[in-house]
Amino acid sequence: MKILAIIGSPRKNGTVSKLAQNILDAAQVNGHITELINLYDYEIKPCIGDWACVKLGKCHIQDDFEIIFHKLYEADIVILGSPVYWANISGVMKNFIDRHTGYAMFKPPNAQNFYKLSRWQKLKTILRLMKEFGPFDPRFKEKKYILITAATVPFKRIMGEVSPTINAMRKYVKKLKGKIISTLIYTDTLFRFKKNKEKIMLNKAYSLGRKL
Ligand SMILES: Cc1cc2nc3c(=O)[nH]c(=O)nc-3n(C[C@H](O)[C@H](O)[C@H](O)COP(=O)(O)O)c2cc1C
Repeated sequence: MKILAIIGSPRKNGTVSKLAQNILDAAQVNGHITELINLYDYEIKPCIGDWACVKLGKCHIQDDFEIIFHKLYEADIVILGSPVYWANISGVMKNFIDRHTGYAMFKPPNAQNFYKLSRWQKLKTILRLMKEFGPFDPRFKEKKYILITAATVPFKRIMGEVSPTINAMRKYVKKLKGKIISTLIYTDTLFRFKKNKEKIMLNKAYSLGRKL
């Protein structure tokens, strides 16, 4: 299998990068083809929201997005990694996700007359459209994903910092109709609760990679 890690952290030797690399190293031992790319090494401009992409079926902004999108398309398993930045994914990861719009969404016909429908018809239409939205290429539906995040907060829940980050990536996978096979969350990266926390997390990542 082809396993691609897409990292949205400027710290190439940071926690998210190291966890992803450990999964890849272990997967390589199993004979898989692996690659790690860091979004900071590419030019990914922000979405300009002109909706031209929903007509074109692709994004028209000229930069490196297509290079990464092609790698993503080819991959069987995708590792998405972002540190928690302001209780959410990092900006580069958000820009990267926004740029998928033309590949997964379309403008429904007669949307401007939607209000004329009965309540029942509105509900039926919305349920149908929810099913129709999603990647136009069926290959995306076969893709599996592993999500990684790291944060200084000491708890996964309670403080409400980690969940929005994981949910942002989860939503992306869900909209692309992929399947999440594992999630690695590394908390207390600053206020260490356990002496060997990093070692434990890196071992966990490695074991995960060996199972692929
Ligand atoms: C701009 C910025 C914003 C951050 N925001 C949060 C935050 O909201 N909550 C948190 O727990 N940690 C926050 N952090 C800390 C990082 O999530 C933490 O250091 C993480 O381990 C970094 O991962 P990395 O080493 O892979 O880059 C922030 C760090 C930066 C640089």
